[in-house]
Amino acid sequence: MTDPDRLGARAAAMIEELGAISAEPGRLVRLYLTPEHRRAADLVARWMREAGLAAGEDALGTVRGRWGGGRRLLIGSHLDSVIDAGRYDGPLGVVAGILAAEQVVRSGRQLPFGIDVLAFGDEEGSRFPSTLSSSAACAGVFDDAMLSLADRDGVTMAEALRAYGKSPAEIPAAAYGRAEAAAYVEVHIEQGPVLESENEPLGVVTDIVGASRLRVTVTGEAGHAGTVPMDLRRDALAGAAELVLAVERIARTHHDDRMVGTVGRIQAAPGATNVIPGRVQLSIDLRSATDRIRRAALAEIKAEAFRLVEARGLEIELEPLYEVATTPCAPALQELLVQSVSALGHRPLRLPSGAGHDGQMMAKLCPMAMLFVRCRGGVSHNPAECASPADMGAAIAALIGFIERFDPDRL
Ligand code: GLV
Ligand code: MN
Ligand code: MN
Repeated sequence: MTDPDRLGARAAAMIEELGAISAEPGRLVRLYLTPEHRRAADLVARWMREAGLAAGEDALGTVRGRWGGGRRLLIGSHLDSVIDAGRYDGPLGVVAGILAAEQVVRSGRQLPFGIDVLAFGDEEGSRFPSTLSSSAACAGVFDDAMLSLADRDGVTMAEALRAYGKSPAEIPAAAYGRAEAAAYVEVHIEQGPVLESENEPLGVVTDIVGASRLRVTVTGEAGHAGTVPMDLRRDALAGAAELVLAVERIARTHHDDRMVGTVGRIQAAPGATNVIPGRVQLSIDLRSATDRIRRAALAEIKAEAFRLVEARGLEIELEPLYEVATTPCAPALQELLVQSVSALGHRPLRLPSGAGHDGQMMAKLCPMAMLFVRCRGGVSHNPAECASPADMGAAIAALIGFIERFDPDRL
């Protein structure tokens, strides 16, 4: 018998325990392939075994809890975090998968498919300048170019994988076969205010918005802050600042396509009060509902970037780092989630996801669906992020209902 209150209380305790695993004492920082990732992965593997799943790990460090035979229903989310993160983004979906699978295992019920709970390690892209690499490997679309991407300390993903005890040569073996993977479903905190404003705990995701990410390097000339007159400077940071505003302006003009543009990281060198910045690196993250509109806006940003650096005598390099299309959730799976949410007495709202998710890679392998959980104040990527135990319990109960309704032959 499903007891949402008990499931919600257990999820809250597990999320609390995972949330304590951080690289820094005062804030949550859990990056891919770090000692913190190792500790979180080991804890999750232990929970999987306690739930009656066979726990293992693939070449990208994804923890996999396996139960039953036949085609696989994949249930997952991620263990890595942004810097100064909340505790729910990722861990909620992993814990929901484990608790739902545990209930199915303990019920002794026979199902015409098996379950794999997946705890991915690289959803946020907080360590390496790419993202979704672990789900890409499971989906069989891992791009080997990711292996040479370096973190802020110059450590490449290949080196970090080896230090984590993995072999890049094993990555192809991490891929599920197309016949093997029946579907992928993920529970995730909404990370926005829609469910709260509608006064509903759960939402069924219609699609995940597409995204483009670039790394930009602006080069000018470092010089003495006291002696070089203003009109003789080639200040890379002043040029980069104009670019930041151009990204904001262009994204705003496409707000009806849900476009958002962010420069979240900027580094000026040499980085001293009395030196004109000679070189700046910054990130651009651009998202929108329609891929064509996003690509056109990206071309507009690039043209604007070249125009404004030329006017300042600067140079610029724009490197595409990541590109993912807007990904629809499978209608048949959305329907199963709607039925499961309704059966709990809740109104099954449908909403798009503005955040990126592992489902974008998993959808390249098999039908994909997502269930959102109400997020207090719509606040996420922030330590104040919160989902209530009651809402998490409802989400796990809905996931159990989804598993009970799921039929790999009727998709
Ligand atoms: C992941 O959280 C993303 O959408 O950037
Ligand atoms: Mn996430
Ligand atoms: Mn996130």
